[in-house]
Amino acid sequence: MRIDILTLFPTIAGIPLGESMIGKAQQRGLVTIQVHNIREWARDKHRTTDDAPYGGSQGMVMKCEPIFAAVEELKQKWNGEWSRKAGTNDEPAADAAAESFDVRHPSFVIYLTPGGKPFDQKAATRLAQPGSHLILLCGHYEGIDQRVIDHLVDEEISIGDYVLTNGAIAAAVITDAVVRLLPGVLGDENSAPDDSFASGLIEGPQYTRPVEFRGWRVPDILLSGNHGAIAKWRREQALDKTRRVRPDLLEEKSEPSSSRPV
Ligand code: ADE
Repeated sequence: MRIDILTLFPTIAGIPLGESMIGKAQQRGLVTIQVHNIREWARDKHRTTDDAPYGGSQGMVMKCEPIFAAVEELKQKWNGEWSRKAGTNDEPAADAAAESFDVRHPSFVIYLTPGGKPFDQKAATRLAQPGSHLILLCGHYEGIDQRVIDHLVDEEISIGDYVLTNGAIAAAVITDAVVRLLPGVLGDENSAPDDSFASGLIEGPQYTRPVEFRGWRVPDILLSGNHGAIAKWRREQALDKTRRVRPDLLEEKSEPSSSRPV
């Protein structure tokens, strides 16, 4: 898989993605993540990426030209030199994840904006396709020229009902959530199916040694060795926590049966 992030603030998006599991996934060739400055595609002397809005209102709007140039170049490379490298054995792949590229997946362009569809675990699972190409376009200023959204963007995504100063942090969040779901990224001990949300519930409590800390003991059931009873306890705990913290998740779960046509 390849992820290209287009932003005016490359360091914000780049730093968290070089570390930990995502950094290791890149080193192991499971994914290539590249962060680009949109300004590189601005052609005028001042490398302008924004302008005043037509019709007059506050703030500045991101311009079409550099964004179209950037996305079109990335798409062209995905269909051309990057995919060709994947097919050759004689020259070492310049791109660590080249072997896993697959041009049958067309590039998919996501615009990060508080006005987009809410991002959740289901969306992360849908986007985590080995061999695919995501282009994450980060907004800034008051917004982006609508023609970018109408003619270049496949999906608008929000990471939550709050407004960030720009989309670079949102792009890093999405990249992290997607990449950790790619096969081979998590070790067996951290398997994704046990995640909070994968089961539709929030994960319950976890404990490790010592058995007693400052008088607080690990629940006896976890020391019992009775795997069936432990699994039942874990599910009850997860249900209890979900009821307290995120009752909306339980409502969502029961919706399909209650709204099924009769
Ligand atoms: N850009 C600014 N705020 C955002 C949000 N909540 N989600 C995605 N992109 C954003």
